[in-house]
Amino acid sequence: MITLIRNIKELVQVEETPKNMVSGKEMKILPTIKNAFLLIENDLIKDFGEMKDFKSIPIDNVVDASEKIVLPTWCDSHTHIVYADNREQEFIDRINGLSYEEIANNGGGILNSAKKLQVISEDNLYKQSAIRIEEIMQLGTGAVEIKSGYGLTKEAELKMLRVIKKLNKNYPIAIKATFLGAHALPIEFKNNKSGYLDTVIQEILPIVAKENLAEFIDAFCETGYFSVEDTERLLKAGEKFGLIPKIHVNQFTAIGGVQIGVKYNALSVDHLEEMRAEDIEVLKNSKTMPVALPSCSYFLSIPYTPARKIINAGLPLALATDYNPGSTPSGNMNFVVSTACIKMKLTPEEAINAATINGAYAMGLEKTHGSICRGKKANFILTKKIPSYGFIPYSFGNHQIDQVFIEGLKV
Ligand code: NIG
Ligand code: FE
Repeated sequence: MITLIRNIKELVQVEETPKNMVSGKEMKILPTIKNAFLLIENDLIKDFGEMKDFKSIPIDNVVDASEKIVLPTWCDSHTHIVYADNREQEFIDRINGLSYEEIANNGGGILNSAKKLQVISEDNLYKQSAIRIEEIMQLGTGAVEIKSGYGLTKEAELKMLRVIKKLNKNYPIAIKATFLGAHALPIEFKNNKSGYLDTVIQEILPIVAKENLAEFIDAFCETGYFSVEDTERLLKAGEKFGLIPKIHVNQFTAIGGVQIGVKYNALSVDHLEEMRAEDIEVLKNSKTMPVALPSCSYFLSIPYTPARKIINAGLPLALATDYNPGSTPSGNMNFVVSTACIKMKLTPEEAINAATINGAYAMGLEKTHGSICRGKKANFILTKKIPSYGFIPYSFGNHQIDQVFIEGLKV
């Protein structure tokens, strides 16, 4: 089936020759074509260009995009979308003065989600998560990474990963799975962290690898959670099974997580609210993508990732939601892009690069997603009638999307 999107006011993030990602210096440039067409064949982008150069061919379906912008769907490289129920009560507790840390120390936080996840049926977990997948597709996300990490037992971690696999099978959105066994220490292992790591490494990891349930391995490398040494143990074990690291580092404290990520060739290091000069330095000449999660900073009232420092050092940056029940109960990439501009001082061009091609890189999908490029997946957003792409971050909190296409079909 051939679909033509014609009279596009501006076609954004076009790529003649595919690139892997854009570095800090290039991020302020967003390649676009004004008064453009986009031609789709089945699930792929067949061609694009200026409207005046369009050569008539037989077409099954025409969409008129007069006064509308077309851009690639968002690539959300860090989420925890598969979770049970919610943690609205902790939101109220924080409004009333408790900190995220105090709530976690009282048995709330990740352990609260783990309790709920351990008892929910796989079917119900799938249903709850599928609603969130449908929600983010409507918000313009066409590729997403999802982590385990709310199970914290063999059965529950595998249940989460199986749900991720099933979502991937049933929805057109591209889904990448990450094994995050080391997200928090279960109460049963309160004084036996190495015992829990033994369980993760010896009992769960081999099954995850054998059943191809995850491509990436993650750990919450943070004071009070998993140390740099714990993280190194995990990444080493993951490496044996071919799992690539993508890790939570520097959310509350900078303890050397970025260095260990780079040492083990992490695809990304995520959060980075606390960044030392040496953390920025070690990322230079690495293949590791720094990932910022501004909605998490917004929701928890913690510092924003120093994105300007990262970009001004010449490093690339990706933006993701961190969609999860505790620190970011929102999967809205439009809000992330907007918040990155407002709070982290990214230009709209930088923010859109960070949320598309760099996000694709941060989950190993840069060959098929993240830009308008011939041969890539026909994943794109058609906006309402707006004056420019910069209007998306400018009109924060408003909904500027008219239609979303994933793999060539309207969702
Ligand atoms: O990325 N920081 C660790 N994990 C999640 C939040 C976990 C939770 O509160 O449920 C995050 O923010
Ligand atoms: Fe996270």
